[in-house]
Amino acid sequence: MSRQIFYIFFYRLASGKETGQYKTHMKIGIMTGGGDAPGLNGIIEAASRTLLLQGHEVVGILDGFEGIFENRTRNITLQEIHGIHAQAGTFLGTSNRTKVEGRAEEFQAAFAKLGCDGLIAAGGDGTFIGLSKIAPNLPIVGVPKTIDNDLQGTDITFGFDTACTVVSEAVDALRYTAEAHRRVMVVETMGRTAGWIALGGGLAGYADAILIPERPFSREKLKNFLVEKRNLKIKGLVVVISEAAKALNEEATYETVEGAIHSIRYGGVGERLSKWIETETGWESRYVVLGHLQRSHAPTTTDRFLTASLGALAAQLAMAKKWKMAAVYRNGIVTSAPLTEIQGPPRTIDPDHRWVKLCQSLGIYI
Ligand code: F6P
Repeated sequence: MSRQIFYIFFYRLASGKETGQYKTHMKIGIMTGGGDAPGLNGIIEAASRTLLLQGHEVVGILDGFEGIFENRTRNITLQEIHGIHAQAGTFLGTSNRTKVEGRAEEFQAAFAKLGCDGLIAAGGDGTFIGLSKIAPNLPIVGVPKTIDNDLQGTDITFGFDTACTVVSEAVDALRYTAEAHRRVMVVETMGRTAGWIALGGGLAGYADAILIPERPFSREKLKNFLVEKRNLKIKGLVVVISEAAKALNEEATYETVEGAIHSIRYGGVGERLSKWIETETGWESRYVVLGHLQRSHAPTTTDRFLTASLGALAAQLAMAKKWKMAAVYRNGIVTSAPLTEIQGPPRTIDPDHRWVKLCQSLGIYI
């Protein structure tokens, strides 16, 4: 048998065409929805490899829900996705602007047109809640995604470790300029209503103070802490503040964006805190907003391991037709759970969480 004929035969065998199992051959769509997170490409690569190597067909849906509504797809081959796990962003594009309310029929018809047997979707709460409303019977496997680490039903979301790494590296780096100029450097992180990124990244960088939404801070106590440090002739400090953190009895800093899916857009608290520190303590201060650098960063090794396992499991669930399930991380292992378990209000930090206690024992103001 020539090499070419062997490969054709092998392909047909792998795809089930030669063994009378053609019906088991599947066409699986894969999409990424909502804001990007480091590791999305790892999910795409791991899930696609697993499916393709079993002889199935993988269709990449472009730009999240938009790709389904507008029938924009690309066929995925092993060659194309090889190595993308190391890159930030998403090979397929994403969108967090597509409105789905009232578009159930349109969505279901558009999905049927794709001819897919099932869909693997990596997304946040918005993606899955949206899908459950417009297509309750969709053959779907989900992978929870957000750098904020605030989804229910999973102990860790991929992208979180990378975001924490960006924060801790910023804290480490900014300590030098803080000390050189005898300043307080304020670092504003993402996270919406959950302080996981500020806490995880701030702790890993041994920030001097970490302010999170779950523990509204006392202005008086914070001022005393800063003044005490200054009296000790500490040269400079680094304070990490989560974007929705607030002082006791005050509101978080945000603007309302009419018509947006997330109409509340946090941001600006770092600048406000920095100015307040300078006015109240006389200690010169500057602020840095890490913003989307926390999302647009090559995934860490931990996130790569996690997405390799989550992506492969998502593909296995799809091959086993275990629809409406999600690949999650619980108690130190990647496992499956009903998709409904990752939907719900944000998973915020218990104010007495062990990481909070660790900060306190290390002398970090929290
Ligand atoms: O939910 C992830 C997140 O990165 C939040 O931490 C942040 O508030 C928000 O997305 C920013 O989203 P956008 O891409 O709309 O600026």
